[in-house]
Amino acid sequence: SVAVALWSSGPVSSDLLVGDFESTIIGRCKAYLAKNKEDSSKNDCEEVWKAFSGAYLGKDPCEVSVEAYDPLMRAVSERPACDRMLFWSKTRDFVHDFTAKTKCQLTLEDTLLGYMMNDQTYWCSEKGSSVTFTEKGKCPGWDECERNPMKSFWKRASAAFAESACGDVAVMLNGSIDTPFAPDSIFASVEVKKFHSPKMKALKVVLVTKGKDDKANCKNKSLQNLKDALDPRLSYECLEVPQSKIIDCTSHPDKACGNCW
Ligand code: APR
Repeated sequence: SVAVALWSSGPVSSDLLVGDFESTIIGRCKAYLAKNKEDSSKNDCEEVWKAFSGAYLGKDPCEVSVEAYDPLMRAVSERPACDRMLFWSKTRDFVHDFTAKTKCQLTLEDTLLGYMMNDQTYWCSEKGSSVTFTEKGKCPGWDECERNPMKSFWKRASAAFAESACGDVAVMLNGSIDTPFAPDSIFASVEVKKFHSPKMKALKVVLVTKGKDDKANCKNKSLQNLKDALDPRLSYECLEVPQSKIIDCTSHPDKACGNCW
């Protein structure tokens, strides 16, 4: 099913009172399922919330492992969208604008878990507590400690999304930076390692270019590293695609499936 993105929905987490976070997450879960009916029967949003919050409640906010979200992954079930999966790194807003407009390719944030947690910057608890905090000052930042609830969640959800990758897969990378395939990104450190043939067939790099200030092309050293890190049975292709061409393509959404690059 094609996920319909509602990127503007939901207040930012710092505005939330304790308890509102739970209703925001459950509300997003229900809204997603209402729009993606085929998957509704298998997912129960209250159960999903319990499994999600169980990963971090009562724990030190720097001691939440990636595996702590395993029960959450078991509580959620979605059919993979073969040939339409789109990965990304350093192109977040552009890629989501693209998938929201074309409703053709799907990113992690167009699936149930990604949709639920997209834009939720902070959530954590503390040792022995049953309360969720969503304030910046209360929860560690993304790089403050490795095992924080947010980073562990995105690593776990990204691993599952990449494990389910099937058919022809694309990744949108940023040609305006020196290292489009950054070793410490989730795409490089988690997702690429989960891509496997024969379920998955090919990876197409869409290197989004802007023109005169571009720092990278398909010959970039980091993209060579990407090719080397891939399962050798997968075919690999890199395309330099002007941003303007992709934007132009989104204004003709019916033609966008596979025709934007
Ligand atoms: N501080 C806060 N948030 C961060 C930071 C940071 N230092 N680094 C990354 N993030 C969060 C932000 O929300 C950011 O938009 O991770 C997001 C993606 O970071 P990128 O480096 O642009 O990309 P990457 O790490 O490769 O993650 C994207 O993983 O989520 C999956 O399927 C998705 O393919 C995609 C990839």
